[in-house]
Amino acid sequence: MAKRIAIGVIGCGFFAQNHLNAWADLKAAGADLVAVCDTDPVRARAAAEKFGVPRWYTDAETMFAKEQLGLVDIATQMRGHLPLVKLALGHGVPTIVQKPFGQDIGEVREMLAASAATNLFLAVHENFRYQRPLLKVAETIASGAIGTPNWARISFRTGYDIYTGQPYLAREQRFVLIDLGVHVLDIARVLLGEVEHLTAELQRRNPIAAGEDTATMLLRHTSGAVSVVECTYSSRRLPDSFPETLVEVEGDRGAIASRVGSKVEVTSNGVLQAFDEDPVVHPWAERPWHVAQDSVLTTCRHMLEAVQAGRPAATSAADNFKTFALVEAAYEAAGKVRPVSG
Ligand SMILES: NC(=O)c1ccc[n+]([C@@H]2O[C@H](COP(=O)([O-])OP(=O)(O)OC[C@H]3O[C@@H](n4cnc5c(N)ncnc54)[C@H](O)[C@@H]3O)[C@@H](O)[C@H]2O)c1
Repeated sequence: MAKRIAIGVIGCGFFAQNHLNAWADLKAAGADLVAVCDTDPVRARAAAEKFGVPRWYTDAETMFAKEQLGLVDIATQMRGHLPLVKLALGHGVPTIVQKPFGQDIGEVREMLAASAATNLFLAVHENFRYQRPLLKVAETIASGAIGTPNWARISFRTGYDIYTGQPYLAREQRFVLIDLGVHVLDIARVLLGEVEHLTAELQRRNPIAAGEDTATMLLRHTSGAVSVVECTYSSRRLPDSFPETLVEVEGDRGAIASRVGSKVEVTSNGVLQAFDEDPVVHPWAERPWHVAQDSVLTTCRHMLEAVQAGRPAATSAADNFKTFALVEAAYEAAGKVRPVSG
């Protein structure tokens, strides 16, 4: 019999719909959605009605005072993360917060310290590593099929219009690295381990964006492996791979390549095998977002099981701090280069 966890969701906007669907799907596994909160009463009420949630709030403080939550899931934009995380931990509630963890490394340090001081569960909803093709890549590396991985390319390149669903992105001064870079850099850590140093080139290729919309990074991992990590919202390439992250990993006995359409090709000791890793399109999901939507469900399941078992999440505050540190390092490294003398 699964331990029941009373869950509150803060922020009922664009992406939170996926969280709400995931928690609803996880009812049999022990998730009880008991409250939702949004400063916009129309959104809070609509979420409560749609998902049959008994109570809705427009103020998080009131929600924490009135509810006995076993877990709170914060799905607001990054500006709200620090105050909401401190509020949640101050009420003794285990907490999940959407990526990007904070606005800068100082905020992330503050949240990490608050979780350490209270000894409470704090995790970041970092879902890309839970996308089905990427789980297959990680499993293949762990199986030893390609030997020791020593080179990789991790690439999220799209021209998909993300500005309609998330208009605030066009106004961000620090844009693609903090929005998408957190995901691809996290994948680099998952596949090749921690990073010793990196370089980065940032570009603003679409004038609609206030900040950089393209990042190209070169990482040296502590294992000696090297990876090229890229993300852009300004690619004109067809077929458009949104929202897939395509990876290539090479080892001393083989290689892995993921292709558009969630295909994963594994070469091991000179033998090529192809796998179809297209995720389930859940009844509430739609193509092409299903790749992300399925990973939200997998992420939420992982979080629920961790809270039920009283253990930290794989994407704990301490773990995500390391990913966020790479984002900050990339912003600092950008443009610091050795000029070529002619
Ligand atoms: N992991 C992913 O794949 C993925 C994809 C898209 C967006 N996101 C992330 O999800 C987060 C939310 O993005 P979005 O596009 O849904 O934003 P959004 O603006 O559509 O939704 C945020 C909601 O939070 C509410 N809100 C803000 N402050 C609040 C507060 N203090 N208390 C209660 N409610 C509050 C707003 O009224 C709004 O309804 C962002 O951090 C974004 O980066 C993640």
